[in-house]
Amino acid sequence: MSRSKPCFVANWKMHKTIGEAETFIKDLDRHLLKPGNMDSKVIIAPPFTALANLAVSLEGCETEIGLSAQNVHFAEKGAYTGEISAGMLREIGCAYVIVGHSERRNLFGETNEEVHQKLQAVKQAGMRPILCIGESLEDRQSGRTWSVLEKQLSVALGEQDSSSNLCKHISEWMIAYEPVWAIGTGLTPTPEEVANIHQQIQNFIDTRFGQDLPPVLYGGSVSEKNIASFMKEGSIGGVLVGGASLVPETFHKIIELGTSTVNSQ
Ligand code: PGA
Repeated sequence: MSRSKPCFVANWKMHKTIGEAETFIKDLDRHLLKPGNMDSKVIIAPPFTALANLAVSLEGCETEIGLSAQNVHFAEKGAYTGEISAGMLREIGCAYVIVGHSERRNLFGETNEEVHQKLQAVKQAGMRPILCIGESLEDRQSGRTWSVLEKQLSVALGEQDSSSNLCKHISEWMIAYEPVWAIGTGLTPTPEEVANIHQQIQNFIDTRFGQDLPPVLYGGSVSEKNIASFMKEGSIGGVLVGGASLVPETFHKIIELGTSTVNSQ
């Protein structure tokens, strides 16, 4: 079976001014024009403040680069000081929204139920969610990895709500498996462990929703050193890159090595 284009999502978190973001995109566009790199799908998730300017920059690019927000509020509008709605993101030109990142869950107390509401808002606004799930070190050490991931998936995807048609076009989403203990630590699971979890995620979607499967990404300390070993696994549809996506040369190298690994298979 031929693999689809590998996907590289840059999650910049709370980094980069508008000017820095624009310079990065110009460099990235030039890099993606190199022959092998065109076989990749690249999405940038800048901070909210850079989204509108990057939407304009991306229109002027020769290559196709997707734009994602890092978060969204679930309500359409209202008295939610400091929050941004899905409709507002859509208006800017965002096509994707990262939902349920572990930093949102752990630092800002986001629950599985809220993740579910956010997914509904993103879908209603006509954007594609990049749903993040992941277990803590404690979960992993006590053998609860799959039960935690299964719970995150089942509540987020609205399994408890039989009337929900949230997952009707789930094949257009992305699901990112990001073990919390691997984020920003330099530690990673082995590619085989990731492939095994990805298989379980795909089985879950298949048996619960019987739909074409969305690409499943891996995230957590992805670097130019380990990208090839992850992309060798056929079940890994791409990567969500935090720290290593901030430096253009490093992110370029990740795209180049990841894409050539997939192409050489
Ligand atoms: P990291 O972050 O690549 O810096 O580990 C990944 C993420 O948080 O999505």
